[in-house]
Amino acid sequence: MDKPLLKALAGETVRPAPFWLMRQAGRYLPEYRKLRASAGSFLDLCFSPALAAEVTLQPVRRFGTDAAILFSDILTVPYALGQRVEFVEGRGPVLGPFDPDALEPAGSRLDAVYEAVRLVRASLPENVALIGFAGAPWTVAAYMVEGGSSRDWLQVRRMALGEPERFAGLIDRLTDVTVDHLSAQAEAGAEALQLFDSWAGLLPPAGIRRWCLEPARRIAAALRERHPSVPLILFPRGAAVFAAEFAGTADCVGLDTAADPAWAAGKVQGQAAVQGNLDPMLLVIGGDAMERAARDILSAFRQGPHVFNLGHGVLPMTPPEHVAALRRIVQEAP
Ligand code: CP3
Repeated sequence: MDKPLLKALAGETVRPAPFWLMRQAGRYLPEYRKLRASAGSFLDLCFSPALAAEVTLQPVRRFGTDAAILFSDILTVPYALGQRVEFVEGRGPVLGPFDPDALEPAGSRLDAVYEAVRLVRASLPENVALIGFAGAPWTVAAYMVEGGSSRDWLQVRRMALGEPERFAGLIDRLTDVTVDHLSAQAEAGAEALQLFDSWAGLLPPAGIRRWCLEPARRIAAALRERHPSVPLILFPRGAAVFAAEFAGTADCVGLDTAADPAWAAGKVQGQAAVQGNLDPMLLVIGGDAMERAARDILSAFRQGPHVFNLGHGVLPMTPPEHVAALRRIVQEAP
């Protein structure tokens, strides 16, 4: 196990810090836009193993990242459960109506995703680790209930806080499906797994514990049983004040943009590796501002296991040269 990412996730202090970026494949890369234009719809791309594998490898080739993250989407899961899912240009995801008590079994609908994992693993450079992922139950439920992205997420918040018994049924079902989906990726060759809880920060503290932390614990426990050697990264965005609690249940906690590295170095890094957390806007801006912020993060986390990343995903207007510059800064940091 010489891959820098896997060493850091196992708790080793690895320098230079391993480097990858959330949403490192995507629209900011010309080679992605070109392939995307020829692939048909976004979901067609996700479910074409050879194309998804190719897009996964694009940022690895261009920047020499320490990890590849499988090219796919968290909304393949509601699609597999029988909900209509479309990605509309300029509007984002649009999901059809669904009955929480009548979701279909996923069956073999996600098999193309696992085939993509196998293809990537077969052509990955030696020191690069492959990360599989899923959306956390709360975040996936949020898109399912709202029928897409939302400014205020009123419907899912009302259901979670106002009809907890009914909502628990949906979260339990998504928890089980998420375990199966992550396990299948590990079986196909994913060497680490990340759970994206992008909307954890919408909930009050008791809601975060019940709808984010509890399902994360169940998912972590089930995965430890099935795949004890595959580390798990939790990313509860907007809930960094709970990072220490999440750290008790995973190998690594992803810190969002607002988390203070000095605080996290003291309260989180002693229990689990930390990942993060440069503001994606600084990657858009580049130059000295980016370099100073990246160095501050590296120096705050230098005493323990740290995986360099952003505090959220790469923004579509990011100049690829800034990613290359950031990669060098992290590689050459003292
Ligand atoms: O990180 C990677 O490079 C791997 C691929 C990946 C995508 N989505 C590809 C994608 C990953 C890990 C995701 C996760 C994802 N998807 C999350 C969690 C992370 C986060 O950003 O908070 C969420 C909430 C989604 C749901 C989703 N997918 C939305 C809201 C949208 C529309 C907004 C947008 O960014 O375009 C997507 C579409 C999407 N997923 C694109 C890509 C490359 C753009 C689609 C296109 O090419 O037209």
